[in-house]
Amino acid sequence: MKNGEKWLDIDGNPIEAHGGCRLYHEGKLYWYGEDRRGDNYVSCYVLEKNGWKFLNSVLTTNSKTQATRVVANLDLRKEISNGDKIRVIIERPKVVYNKKTKKFVMWMHYENGVDRQDACAAVATCDTPYGDFVYHGAFNPMGHHSRDCTLFEQNGKMYFISSARRNADLHVYLLQDDYLNVARLVNVLFSNEKREAPAFVEKDGKVLLITSGCTGWYPNQATFSVADSITGDFTVNENLGDETTYLSQSAFLYKNEKGEIVFFGDRWGGGDLLQTREFDYTKSGYCAYKVEFDGETAKLVYSDEAFC
Ligand code: GAL
Repeated sequence: MKNGEKWLDIDGNPIEAHGGCRLYHEGKLYWYGEDRRGDNYVSCYVLEKNGWKFLNSVLTTNSKTQATRVVANLDLRKEISNGDKIRVIIERPKVVYNKKTKKFVMWMHYENGVDRQDACAAVATCDTPYGDFVYHGAFNPMGHHSRDCTLFEQNGKMYFISSARRNADLHVYLLQDDYLNVARLVNVLFSNEKREAPAFVEKDGKVLLITSGCTGWYPNQATFSVADSITGDFTVNENLGDETTYLSQSAFLYKNEKGEIVFFGDRWGGGDLLQTREFDYTKSGYCAYKVEFDGETAKLVYSDEAFC
């Protein structure tokens, strides 16, 4: 697979799974991400011997909704002034498994589809990795803005990380045991540095955090930072890759079977976005670059072929 291209699934259809995540569960590798076709919000694929197989649109405009103890907006479509109901915006879905409740829990970024002022986190759950998720609504964690986001587990605790205060700061929240709400704000990172698209991985006791700058769909300079613990002190951000992060923005980091770190990103709108300035979401492709990380410094290795 070529970096930057729109990859195809094993049925020959374009993969729509942007800003997403991977989940390894019971011997299978799942890939979730944004899907803006028709009624879809989030798609789920599974890795088979010959490539990615589409399994389900796990969150759509018609998903079941169910309130929890967290007071939240349950609308998956927004009614506008002429009475029409439009799609809301669901971005950067991340799915993890909660061993205690045996539920698959998805956290994501929600906006109302009219403007980008709600800045909410949203939560959904399911009994299987690829079933129809039940939507539990959108809310501002502890009253804060919550935009680009991710989940990260360390020492058996799950954390939700999202851009807050008009993207100026990056908040780290410890989640409650069932992962349905935040428990505590445990760290504020890079205050006033305006970092987005957070992606974490842990290697040899070190936490590597890669973020992007804040230029909407346009690619910009990624940075990396390192800490012993997600609740601890992170090093000063240093540049990673070139000024466009090789025409990509981070979606997630993972370790492949050899233990190598892979940076997985989106090439929003295709490679010519910087020239045309015309954003077409359907042209967005994927990038997978190797990250060389020695516990202190990180380097993004450019390649034409996706590094898996
Ligand atoms: C980016 C963000 C994307 C999307 C986009 C919208 O900065 O990382 O997930 O929200 O802005 O302009």
